[in-house]
Amino acid sequence: MADEPTQLDPKLQVQEAGKAFEQEFERFARFTNEDMPLGEVGLTEAEADQRALADLRVKHFGKKSALSASKKLIGRVAPDERAAFGQLVQQLESGMLARLEAAESRVTQLVQVARVKRESIDVTIPGRRPRRGHLHPITLLREKIEDIFVSLGYAIEDDREIETDFYNFDALNIPQNHPARAEQDTFYTTNGLALRSQTSTVQIHAMQRRGAPVRMIAPGRVFRRDTPDPTHNPMFFQVEGLCVDRGISMAHLKGTVAEFLRRMFGPNTRTRFRPSYFPFTEPSAEFDFSCFKCGGSGCRICKNSGWIELGGSGMVHPNVLRAAGVDPNEFSGFAFGLGIDRMAALMYSLDDIRLLFENDIRFLGQFE
Ligand code: FA5
Repeated sequence: MADEPTQLDPKLQVQEAGKAFEQEFERFARFTNEDMPLGEVGLTEAEADQRALADLRVKHFGKKSALSASKKLIGRVAPDERAAFGQLVQQLESGMLARLEAAESRVTQLVQVARVKRESIDVTIPGRRPRRGHLHPITLLREKIEDIFVSLGYAIEDDREIETDFYNFDALNIPQNHPARAEQDTFYTTNGLALRSQTSTVQIHAMQRRGAPVRMIAPGRVFRRDTPDPTHNPMFFQVEGLCVDRGISMAHLKGTVAEFLRRMFGPNTRTRFRPSYFPFTEPSAEFDFSCFKCGGSGCRICKNSGWIELGGSGMVHPNVLRAAGVDPNEFSGFAFGLGIDRMAALMYSLDDIRLLFENDIRFLGQFE
């Protein structure tokens, strides 16, 4: 060994290994103290200490550790010093191991206690009441309308909001040059489909699907390129009604709409039809009902007219029946459509229908 000046003295080497361990172990020394209270260390911290101790074990007791190198020296020291040297190495190792194991077992305990603490639930803490949602005013009104028509024997149809020209216009007898087809009135997708501008499109789908006779209502979203103002939105809700059977006349239309409005606004509600024009009905009529607030004497809601306008209606045009595969010589029918948003505005005295879609909790909360 004397001829290997770079090599340290074996004893010194063992002492160095012990010192290096002690230096790094210092921060864990507190764990060897049995009096250290459990539960004072958080789980993340305790787990990190556990990992650090595992690394420490590998570094100081593993194959490449200084301690392991010292053991290899045992065979190389002079025979008369070998026993004493071996004993030195062993003492060092068992001293280091004892301290390491004490820390390891304490840290393992700490981890377990922290885990139990984190996972335990205090069942005595008062619960937090979940905030319950409620239905939107448009939905409330839609459900009321649905209930009335279901009780009159109508089915409820739900259909697509994006349509081809056929369903949006052609089948509804809307001529090629009609302004409703213009881009300034209807939203088109880049591939030429249209967002439906009225729920009348469902008349065609319903007749194609169910054939005649048919009785259905179709509530749903519609889209128009209208500039938003207190009575207009570019997206709003309509309800379509359709009844097709043998011998259906305008009298059935009037009776149905009148009954619907009586159930909606009270038994004294009166209904009035005014001649109008829609390409898909002939004859066509708009319908009004006597003001639910003043009963017809005139007030702010009905703008002193005593009447409130609600929607359009008429006898289904023979071209529409034909386009949907129903024989107009055998069947006739009526249809009507109304806007739910404006109806909601009337019923809840809203000055502006845009409130309905602003998602302001202070507004919506009033409908709970
Ligand atoms: C129609 O849409 C016809 N499809 C109704 C119909 C059906 C007639 C079946 C005959 C047979 P109109 O364009 O008038 O009709 O619209 C009906 C209702 O939608 C209006 O009375 C109004 O309440 C509502 N409405 C129209 N535009 C808007 C808008 N921009 N914002 C909110 N509501 C609207």
